[in-house]
Amino acid sequence: MDKKLIVACIGMQFGMSHVEGAMSCGAEIAAICDSNPENLRAAGERYGIPEEKRFTDYMDIVRDPRIEVVTVAVPDQQHCRLSCDLLRAGKHVLCEKPLALTREDLREIIRAADESGRKFMVGQICRFTPAFEKAKALIDDGTLGELYFVESEYAHDYMYLVDTWRSDPLRHGVIGGGCHAVDLLRWLAGDPQEVFAYGMHKLLPQVAYDDATIAVMKFDDNLAGKVFVSTGCKRNYTMRTVIYGTKGTLICDNTSPTMTLFTVGENGMATEPQTLEVQVNNHNAAKEFEVFADAIMHDKPVITDAREGAKTVEVCLSIVESSKTGKVVRPDYSF
Ligand SMILES: NC(=O)c1ccc[n+]([C@@H]2O[C@H](COP(=O)([O-])OP(=O)(O)OC[C@H]3O[C@@H](n4cnc5c(N)ncnc54)[C@H](O)[C@@H]3O)[C@@H](O)[C@H]2O)c1
Repeated sequence: MDKKLIVACIGMQFGMSHVEGAMSCGAEIAAICDSNPENLRAAGERYGIPEEKRFTDYMDIVRDPRIEVVTVAVPDQQHCRLSCDLLRAGKHVLCEKPLALTREDLREIIRAADESGRKFMVGQICRFTPAFEKAKALIDDGTLGELYFVESEYAHDYMYLVDTWRSDPLRHGVIGGGCHAVDLLRWLAGDPQEVFAYGMHKLLPQVAYDDATIAVMKFDDNLAGKVFVSTGCKRNYTMRTVIYGTKGTLICDNTSPTMTLFTVGENGMATEPQTLEVQVNNHNAAKEFEVFADAIMHDKPVITDAREGAKTVEVCLSIVESSKTGKVVRPDYSF
């Protein structure tokens, strides 16, 4: 980094990855915050952050004029309130995914970001996952040809997580976790124009929402996609993704050190599969913070800004709606 950004991080569970990401970019950690004093103490000790820089009330960060950048990793239901308060106080904000859980909150964050003139980023971490960065590069350089089908899944057993804020029906698994797969497909293939979904509910009786959902989507007349979300699955965490193009097919994952590429030989048939090695890093917080810091310091646009985060949630909300009504839903991107 050209200059030391002065950063505060809120939410000391997953948010500790933001502390590490900012530290790895040479930022100054001016404050950490968690409303739970025990989580705050543990994070402070872990990163050597002295007591005078530890806060239980995020308003202490809102009010500190020295702090330029704030990362937010609190329960999804609070993303809107904290992000808006911070933006209105003139901070640049990196907020965890999903941007928010309701269309009303999505709009409020967009408004606050627009009015503040500050940089806002939603942490759609898959865009910094090495296997998915490679997939994007193979699409952009033409290796896979024109896409006609893309699929991704978010399979992650939440058995031990759902007695928390994650069991709120507003935080449907398609929005909370499935937003990763939806955002990935939007990044690789564009905005789906129609979605249709079925929901299943067999594994997590303690939550009021479906624990598995399968959604198909139409991007355009000649490009379709599929997202599968399971938050009760009995398997290891995966985001297996397959990208089918006219010149090749790519099979990749965020938890595998290899990806498989098929291209087309002279006879028009697929070649033998090529194994590409790739670093496994499904929470690349260092790259995420580096990209955000670069946008702040060089006044560049943020790729996953508030509108982009809102479009991803809009697709997730449309999937949930379709699974409940049995009807095709057209996402409304007019944010
Ligand atoms: N990118 C990813 O893959 C990924 C992975 C896990 C979580 N997340 C996201 O990160 C966020 C946090 O998730 P988590 O797993 O750390 O949740 P968690 O419940 O384990 O931890 C949240 C922390 O925030 C603190 N907190 C709650 N409200 C607060 C407030 N108003 N002010 C200060 N601290 C507050 C809690 O005390 C707790 O320590 C969520 O938005 C979640 O969706 C993203």
